[in-house]
Amino acid sequence: MTDSILKIQAVRKTYVSVRTGDTIEALAGIDLEVPAGEFLAVVGPSGCGKSTLLSLVAGFTQPSAGEVLYRGQRVTGAGPERGVMFQDYALFPWRTVLGNIEFGPLARGVALTQRHARARELIRLVGLDGFENRYPHELSGGMRQRCALARMLANDPEIWLMDEPLAAVDQQTRTILQDELLRLWGDAARRPGAPTVIFVTHAIDEAVLLADRVVVLARRPGRIKAVIDIPLPRPRPAQRGSPQFAALVAQVWDLIRDEAAKAIVEEIDR
Ligand SMILES: Nc1ncnc2c1ncn2[C@@H]1O[C@H](COP(=O)(O)OP(=O)(O)O)[C@@H](O)[C@H]1O
Ligand SMILES: [Mg+2]
Repeated sequence: MTDSILKIQAVRKTYVSVRTGDTIEALAGIDLEVPAGEFLAVVGPSGCGKSTLLSLVAGFTQPSAGEVLYRGQRVTGAGPERGVMFQDYALFPWRTVLGNIEFGPLARGVALTQRHARARELIRLVGLDGFENRYPHELSGGMRQRCALARMLANDPEIWLMDEPLAAVDQQTRTILQDELLRLWGDAARRPGAPTVIFVTHAIDEAVLLADRVVVLARRPGRIKAVIDIPLPRPRPAQRGSPQFAALVAQVWDLIRDEAAKAIVEEIDR
């Protein structure tokens, strides 16, 4: 059996609402192990703690109880081996595409020529050739996400932590970027040290398309409702529309339906 790169043990996370002073139990007793090289998707209704879970692994926030262990070490902060692509972790508006992608390596003291060479390679890989000197506001939503992807990859992270990275792009762009993400991950996986991915999405079809396993979270408090294996063969883009694909999407949706309905009612009640 492959060693787990990430172990989440009895993790709880509570927040205190600044507005009301109430305690919010965002995550209650999460246990999860992620083997190296796995593509794991996390789905669940709004407010079930998906972003909190990813922030804990990224080291942006600390658990209220329990442990997050990365390669056996307790996570106490961010690190270049854990790359993030968060929805609200925007590009630097005052830096060009090249400047954004180079930022991590620059901060780590990587030499200019090496930094440039890697950034140019990534720009080509994510299909941003000819746009290296543009600023984020001069790019489409899909191009900004390509840039954010390249920025994450610039540190050669061992694990890719992605929080709804495609939620804000149109359906066609989304399909293209899903395929490109799978291609990039597949290419990287052929080299030693295949990257591990934790991909948060509220789109069930996206989770089934991309992942080896799908973690379904329930809400209030956030906890693991089920973990579903996705045994579909790769390459995955060819699986879109297959009967097995549809059956897995239906299986995950069955687990989420009630929770999603409750989430809607609570949003209305507020
Ligand atoms: N910084 C915070 N302060 C207070 N409550 C928070 C904070 N971040 C998240 N929460 C609450 O924790 C719960 C889980 O949030 P989150 O992890 O963002 O869920 P998701 O990403 O699944 O929508 C929600 O009820 C949310 O309102
Ligand atoms: Mg979220």
